[in-house]
Amino acid sequence: MEKIIVIGPASQLLGMRTVIKTKLDFVQTEYKKFPDGECYIRIQLDDESIVEGKEMIIIQTLGASNHADQNQRIIELLMIISSLHRMGAKKVRVIVPYLAYARQDKVFRPGETLTANLICEMIEKAGADEFFTIDIHAEKILDSFTIPSHNLNPMSLLADYVTTLNLKDPVVISPDKGASKRSKSFAHFFGENVPVEVFSKERDVVTGDIKMTASLDVDKKDVIIADDIISTGGTMASAITIAKKSGARKIYAVGTHLLLIQDAIAKILHAGADKIIGTDTINNPFAQVSMADLLTDTILK
Ligand code: R5P
Repeated sequence: MEKIIVIGPASQLLGMRTVIKTKLDFVQTEYKKFPDGECYIRIQLDDESIVEGKEMIIIQTLGASNHADQNQRIIELLMIISSLHRMGAKKVRVIVPYLAYARQDKVFRPGETLTANLICEMIEKAGADEFFTIDIHAEKILDSFTIPSHNLNPMSLLADYVTTLNLKDPVVISPDKGASKRSKSFAHFFGENVPVEVFSKERDVVTGDIKMTASLDVDKKDVIIADDIISTGGTMASAITIAKKSGARKIYAVGTHLLLIQDAIAKILHAGADKIIGTDTINNPFAQVSMADLLTDTILK
């Protein structure tokens, strides 16, 4: 079946990098907001029949940027899926490099919404036949789909980059128990017996404040702190401060999805990070590691 990539408004860079690597045909999307705030989206085609019987692959991340917030990105995605379905696509495969709202996957306080699950249900309802995301906050969220759904692992690509930093006595730190599986698989890329230290983190469900504790064996060692999301930078900065106090030599702050809101960059560097390392699931100045190879393998499989 012929495949065509649809580059969503939010994934221009990663989308085009993937087009170049896959050598597949692609279509762009035109988008704007009406004066009342409603979104408009149009797949840039002169003839809708081009979509008929094709496998259409949408790449649209859901992170907020200076141009649009995540809510706009979600509605745009749903609109693209729905249009392709209406135009007679044989299969609509949806790639969401960063799944917004994934941290709202539990009811922490009575009356809350399982928004992570709701987003998945809407994507399926709009007409998706298959779903892919990268390093999802919790794999369990994918249970909300009845269509095939996949969590792609970015760790080997991140590790390829981190390895070029010539680590000495590396130790991987997991900033909380939730990230420990990810950190263990990450540590493996730096050697058989690379230690993994797991912090105990408690977040106040009302204020969002975090309390972090750990006793670390990192004196004169290179530390890699790996998390799925770096948002306000609070978690990362707390982990860096503890690693620094414990005598770490170099400290690398690694995140798959760098939202870096407010003063996150300053906070992390001020705490003592030597480098911030991330991917292009979201456009940001620290996206040294592209996910285009991962998407290419997935699309061409
Ligand atoms: C939480 O469980 C996530 O894995 C991240 O640790 C968290 O979202 C980071 O947020 P922030 O940068 O605001 O501390």
